[in-house]
Amino acid sequence: MRAWIVLLTLLTVSTAAPTAASAASLFEERSPMCLQCHGEKGVSETPETPSLGGMTPQFLLIQLYLFREGTRKVELMNEMAKGMTDDDLRTFSDFIAKLPPPPPPAQQGDPARMARGKALSEQNRCGFCHNPDYSGRDQMPRIRNQREDYLVKSMREYKNETRPGYEPTMIEVLRPLNDADIVELAYYLAHVR
Ligand code: HEC
Ligand code: HEC
Repeated sequence: MRAWIVLLTLLTVSTAAPTAASAASLFEERSPMCLQCHGEKGVSETPETPSLGGMTPQFLLIQLYLFREGTRKVELMNEMAKGMTDDDLRTFSDFIAKLPPPPPPAQQGDPARMARGKALSEQNRCGFCHNPDYSGRDQMPRIRNQREDYLVKSMREYKNETRPGYEPTMIEVLRPLNDADIVELAYYLAHVR
């Protein structure tokens, strides 16, 4: 079995039995904060903060798990996931996954840059894993109409190996690509229609 499937299976089996009251209060306390940074309608207006609308619950669950364990090191999110039980991780990922996906930006992408980004995406089979329309599936995130600054940041961090990922897939994917390619891919994905 693939590693991420094993993890999801473990997280799906209810372990601890927190009282309903404590789980509810943690959710009531933190869920407004999630929406404040990530956007109430699934679209983030905060720099370098991802839009989470339309993400799969599997991807969200795995990333919250990585934040809680400190494997993915972002102090802010490590704090947010702190003290969450596996049940809490599921509650938050199911809640966030119901937000609507971000729409494409009002402004059309520059045709020459869009063509370059599309070609890079095809050469590197981005759509093979993230779906041909980049809507994401299973543990693979939606990258369609994500914030451009966040796409650049996340790819740079895989590339310089400061974001490990649950599996090193993206580190391998980005190995042959340089920073200019990353910038073009982010532009294309942020603007794709
Ligand atoms: C103060 C702002 C802030 C708050 C509050 C916040 N987040 Fe985040 N979140 C961020 C930032 C910034 C990142 C990107 C971290 C990075 O650079 O890798 C992030 C990343 C994430 C990711 C990874 C998404 C991806 O595409 O890689 C998930 C999932 C997430 N947050 C869920 C939550 C949930 C659930 C809550 C509430 C419990 C929450 N966040 C609260 C700022 C915030
Ligand atoms: C073999 C499958 C595969 C291919 C091919 C692939 N990805 Fe990914 N991608 C993943 C997985 C799995 C993750 C989540 C990894 C993790 O746990 O951090 C991911 C994560 C990402 C993220 C982070 C998004 C976020 O919200 O945190 C970006 C951006 C991304 N991929 C872009 C791309 C681009 C651009 C390409 C093509 C150059 C590509 N991917 C090709 C599997 C793939």
